[in-house]
Amino acid sequence: MDKIVIEGGQPLNGNVRINGAKNAALLIQCAALLGDTACTLRHLPNLSDVRTMGKLLAYLGCDVSMVDTHTMRIDPRGVRDGELEAPYDTVKTMRASVTVMGPLLARYGRARVSLPGGCAIGARPIDQHLKGLEALGAEIQLENGYVVLQADRLRGGAFVFDKVTVGGTQNVMMAATLAKGTTRLENVAREPEVEELARFLNKMGAKISGAGTSVIEIEGVDNLTGIEHAVIADRIEAGTLAIAAAITRGDVLLEDAPVDHMHATIAKLEEAGVECRVEPDGLRVLGPDEIRPIDVSTRPYPGFPTDMQAQFMVLALCANGQSLITETIFENRFMHVPELARMGGDVKVNGNSAVIRGPSNLMGATVMATDLRASASLVVAGLVAQGVTEVRRVYHLDRGYECIEERLRPLGARIRRLSGARA
Ligand code: EPZ
Repeated sequence: MDKIVIEGGQPLNGNVRINGAKNAALLIQCAALLGDTACTLRHLPNLSDVRTMGKLLAYLGCDVSMVDTHTMRIDPRGVRDGELEAPYDTVKTMRASVTVMGPLLARYGRARVSLPGGCAIGARPIDQHLKGLEALGAEIQLENGYVVLQADRLRGGAFVFDKVTVGGTQNVMMAATLAKGTTRLENVAREPEVEELARFLNKMGAKISGAGTSVIEIEGVDNLTGIEHAVIADRIEAGTLAIAAAITRGDVLLEDAPVDHMHATIAKLEEAGVECRVEPDGLRVLGPDEIRPIDVSTRPYPGFPTDMQAQFMVLALCANGQSLITETIFENRFMHVPELARMGGDVKVNGNSAVIRGPSNLMGATVMATDLRASASLVVAGLVAQGVTEVRRVYHLDRGYECIEERLRPLGARIRRLSGARA
């Protein structure tokens, strides 16, 4: 297994281009199943999750090919009725696989998808996905750890989500595009990735309105057509690199950063004393001599993103004073705390809140990644820790960050990847 070795203490300076958004790319890949013809997706991040989704689509019968490192062509015309299954091993590796349910059900009338089970950050059930699909007329059976869905043709319906869920909103919205009649979804997720998916589907011929608000209406159509599309930039990657610039007292231009999707993150960075300058080609982040402590609670968009929580904890560890971070979205998203503690971080967890006392003079250590954003926080911490930090199990990191060491090194970081036996 690869590991990443970082020698801390170098300020980050220069320009780095922000990649396509993982959490938009994965859903748009699923949406390609709805089309009668092929889609070409550009500005895809070169990530293991994107490759895993491509493999799942190929397993379902799509013709999937890489035009180049960041461009994927998906032709769904080969999807065979018999193979409409997302198998256990795939779903266990990447839970976003469950969002093939909606497209398969809408386009082919059936789907068999492994229940995802829990993951490092929580139980992450899919009850809202299933209730929403039932509201469109799906017949659902649970058997041997799989969800089996059936519907001759989905019909438009009304559904109010009990809980705001990004994936649930996207799954049901995709299913509704080919239902007979109009669907009204309430208490939906407002994330930019939901809006981006709706934009993609409407380009395919869908009739979706309200994406980005709490109510989405979908007027069902008979068919959708494959298109070309460039995926939006990744607000979480941009936020992660912004924190790296801030805590190393650097000066970094995040080219193409989706500033309009980062208001909550930028507000918290500025509250901490970090200078964020919106410029014509991106977001420039300048690290201050002193970082102020901050209190933050994760919330559904447009609130502060849970995917930035672990990285913000490192910012809080570099602040002069006590900060409070509250995680309200997932029940177990403090897996980075014990690892940061090994680097000298003073963090006390109490339920879904963590009290951080800074400045903690972080020291290099060997640490282990446990989930995607936790691993990002360990790399960011290594950039400021005294001495050498070794982050193991970086396959977690590679799910959401494209060659992070290649992105940070040109900015001045002393960082390298040890692969295979050398790891
Ligand atoms: C998406 O996950 C993202 N993943 C996550 O990013 C992100 O953290 C999350 O949204 C919240 O913003 C992708 O887009 C691929 P949810 P998702 O359904 O859709 C509960 C990353 O690091 N819930 O909005 O799975 C659930 O347990 C990843 O890039 C139900 O109770 O998240 C959680 O507590 C991690 N029932 C809360 O809702 C359901 O049916 C939010 O989950 C569905 C969800």
